[in-house]
Amino acid sequence: MVTKKVISTNKIISDLTSKFKDLYQQKPTKAYFAPGRINLIGEHTDYNGGYVFPCAISLGTYALVTPKTDNQVKIYSTNFSDTGINTFPLDDLNINRDDGWINYPKGMFKAFADKGHQLDHQLDHGFNILIYGNLPDGSGLSSSASIEMLFGKILNDQFGDVFSGPELAKLGQHVENTDIGVNSGIMDQYAVEMGQKNTAILLDTNTMKSDLVPIKLGNYKIVIMNTNKKRGLKDSKYNERRKECEEALALVNKVADFSSFGAMSNDEFDEYTYTINNATLLKRARHAVSENQRTLRAVKALRNNAVDEFGRLMNASHISLEYDYEVTGPNLDTLVHEAWKNGAIGARMTGAGFGGCAIAIVPADQIDRFTKNVGDTYNYRFGYDADFYIANIADGPREIQI
Ligand code: GLA
Repeated sequence: MVTKKVISTNKIISDLTSKFKDLYQQKPTKAYFAPGRINLIGEHTDYNGGYVFPCAISLGTYALVTPKTDNQVKIYSTNFSDTGINTFPLDDLNINRDDGWINYPKGMFKAFADKGHQLDHQLDHGFNILIYGNLPDGSGLSSSASIEMLFGKILNDQFGDVFSGPELAKLGQHVENTDIGVNSGIMDQYAVEMGQKNTAILLDTNTMKSDLVPIKLGNYKIVIMNTNKKRGLKDSKYNERRKECEEALALVNKVADFSSFGAMSNDEFDEYTYTINNATLLKRARHAVSENQRTLRAVKALRNNAVDEFGRLMNASHISLEYDYEVTGPNLDTLVHEAWKNGAIGARMTGAGFGGCAIAIVPADQIDRFTKNVGDTYNYRFGYDADFYIANIADGPREIQI
């Protein structure tokens, strides 16, 4: 079992340039990149008014772009080549939820237009666009937020940076909520948009205040472990979890007045558990409160260079997601539990769960043995491979000179 090789940006751009010429019989004029993200800790807290602690990674989505003088936007994705070139006119950006991945870019065009930045009015031109992502699709590394923020960058560039990073993140979340139908929080778009090399973002989703925390892991590296079990959030229990938390909070607030579970300490929660007279809702709420407090503790540990303690809190986060929030499943649990047995000082699922990816903090000199052992057990149990990547914590969206 070897870790996946990552192809260089130069090679990616040169291959995409040939593809662009084949598709559109012209050269691309600009190239852009937006990253994906991992979340180190603070899971399913962003719609509970709590803290998250994600970072952007060097895997992500690339776009080659040439403006043109008609009203049509043409987009081809090498990841979805079966859908060919997708076309929509700038003066009809209505979304049909059944249209699939094209709604991510189209939704961003619409979000800009709804805020008064309409390309057909101001510039009278469309685009030929080619996109390619090296984030495994549907794997919990935010391939959707990566596309949204990629188009945020392309469009912001056209209009002279009319939106700040946090504003672009909000537009992306709006697309996710209204055009895609996933009632997600702000974490993914914020992490992708505001990410900085070698730092993670401690974001308070209640106040939207954030702090950049340097990630210094000494002799350890972060390994991403992909279950290769896909899940679409639209079909998953994501929206259901969110509703359960709302119901639990409403029960507490029959006798108290908390704005969210993020506003509650563990002790306060303990005091009010008697109000939640439903075993499932109690577990969901316990995760929301404990994960938020755990995130603050974990960030404090990291700031004190207590990497071991940070790792143990990651483990606790997984346990809470496995037993209280019930969003892990056998594939993620196998990778995480095997990681614990094979030298990781911390491991947990990352992102929404229900399949997708986990992360592990592993001694750098043991990564080969680690991926072999964990990978072999995984393959033995499920009959297919997990993939392993080294996570490089990277910057947010950027233009690539071509
Ligand atoms: C998905 C959502 C985020 C967040 C995570 C769980 O990635 O898009 O807003 O809720 O799940 O932490």
